[in-house]
Amino acid sequence: MAQMDSSSTTDAYQKMEVADTVVFEGGKPLVGEVTVRGAKNLVTKAMVAALLADTPSILEGVPDISDVAVVRGLLQAHAVSVSEAKDGELHLDPRGVKSAHFAEIDAHAGSSRIPILFCGPLLHQLGEAFIPDLGGCRIGDRPINFHLDALRAFGAEIEKNYEGVSLKAPARLVGTKVDLPYPSVGATEQVLLTAVRAKGVTELINAAIEPEIIDLISILQKMGAIIVVEPNRTIVIEGVDSLLGFRHRAIADRNEAASWAAAALATRGDIYVRGAKQQDLMTFLNIYRKVGGLFDVDDQGIRFRHPGGLISPVVIETDVHPGFMTDWQQPMVVALTQAEGRSIVHETVYENRFGFTDALVQMGAQIEVYKEGIASITRRVPSRPLEQAAVISGPTSLHGANIRVPDLRGGFSHVIAAVTAQGSSEVSNMGMISRGYEHLLQKLDNLGVSFELGP
Ligand code: EPU
Repeated sequence: MAQMDSSSTTDAYQKMEVADTVVFEGGKPLVGEVTVRGAKNLVTKAMVAALLADTPSILEGVPDISDVAVVRGLLQAHAVSVSEAKDGELHLDPRGVKSAHFAEIDAHAGSSRIPILFCGPLLHQLGEAFIPDLGGCRIGDRPINFHLDALRAFGAEIEKNYEGVSLKAPARLVGTKVDLPYPSVGATEQVLLTAVRAKGVTELINAAIEPEIIDLISILQKMGAIIVVEPNRTIVIEGVDSLLGFRHRAIADRNEAASWAAAALATRGDIYVRGAKQQDLMTFLNIYRKVGGLFDVDDQGIRFRHPGGLISPVVIETDVHPGFMTDWQQPMVVALTQAEGRSIVHETVYENRFGFTDALVQMGAQIEVYKEGIASITRRVPSRPLEQAAVISGPTSLHGANIRVPDLRGGFSHVIAAVTAQGSSEVSNMGMISRGYEHLLQKLDNLGVSFELGP
């Protein structure tokens, strides 16, 4: 963007954040600094946790992303007061909580999966809850059977109808034993948010232990919950009668940090990611180093750099934490199109998370997707029926194309591909990316990317 005074810069940035189509001029390295704030996958859950309390809560480090706006709308629909006292600081007061009309819930919930997590807190507060058909990224079937099975075990009565799912708690929910078939992030959060105020003890076996979940447990502990994280993915929760509000600074968004790291590699750039935390990115950093990417850690963040010359291919298998997060693979696939040789990425968490590679192929990448995965001696975990694999052969020089953002992480990857490619690319459906990436265009502008807002 051209030089502007500060008020026209603010206007221009506001326009950028709502642009649906953007034309990028690629081929320049991304150089500079970005800041990551609170993690989408914690902040939205922390906002729901506030619903469990008898007093107000304060959440700090909240990013300006549309998934936060969705949860804010849903809380307000239930008469929870939500205000932003200062930039990134939300005050949430649940004292007036009441049931919302189905149409209002439906209107707010549209594009998110978070409404499912309202069930436990609303059952405790109001004895009833309703969730409409869920949105979220179209990266697989994304069923909610683990959630509903767990809620039934706590004593909830569940009725599915064509509008969604209605739940009732005829009496106080009671602690139970839940053995998850898979360490699902959402189902683990569901059990935590329900068990903390249930009567008696809940034992959760095969729980997810992602850093965002540990941060949610920290919040619940501040509120007065008793939660023991045992070895072997077991979490024991002793229910309490009531909880108080919390004050908490959200853990930084490691998925956004990893996305910028991959962008530095793909574009031969150099990006300092303020807020990135080494301990939450250990597995990512190992792969980054194997590929040849350079990083320097300090107290405030991590600088990610291309080493010069050619980067190396790698084999990646997505997994639950502490494995390589599924959310990291899409941006890394773009970087791997620039590696010399053949990389393999096994996706084991979602059955449809390589759809974004079609656009990369259109831009000149050589990527073959194997819908049932491929056997390899480097496998660490047994295959699941939903596994896929992508084989990326490089290096390939990417050229501009007209592409449409398919989902959140795939969308960020399309943007990195567009800024890596020679020539211009028109990227549409950009709004999808604002679900989880704060002020994306503003950050790209600061990193030296040339673009125009499209029609
Ligand atoms: N699953 C079921 N039944 C269920 C729940 C999950 O079969 O009831 C399956 C899913 O279909 C999937 C697997 O279990 O194959 C993992 O799903 P999980 O429940 O762990 O994921 P989630 O809670 O729906 C969260 C993040 C995702 C992230 C995953 C994995 C949020 C809002 N979403 O989803 O983030 O990929 O955990 O870590 O926290 C993203 O940020 O772009 C994103 C998709």
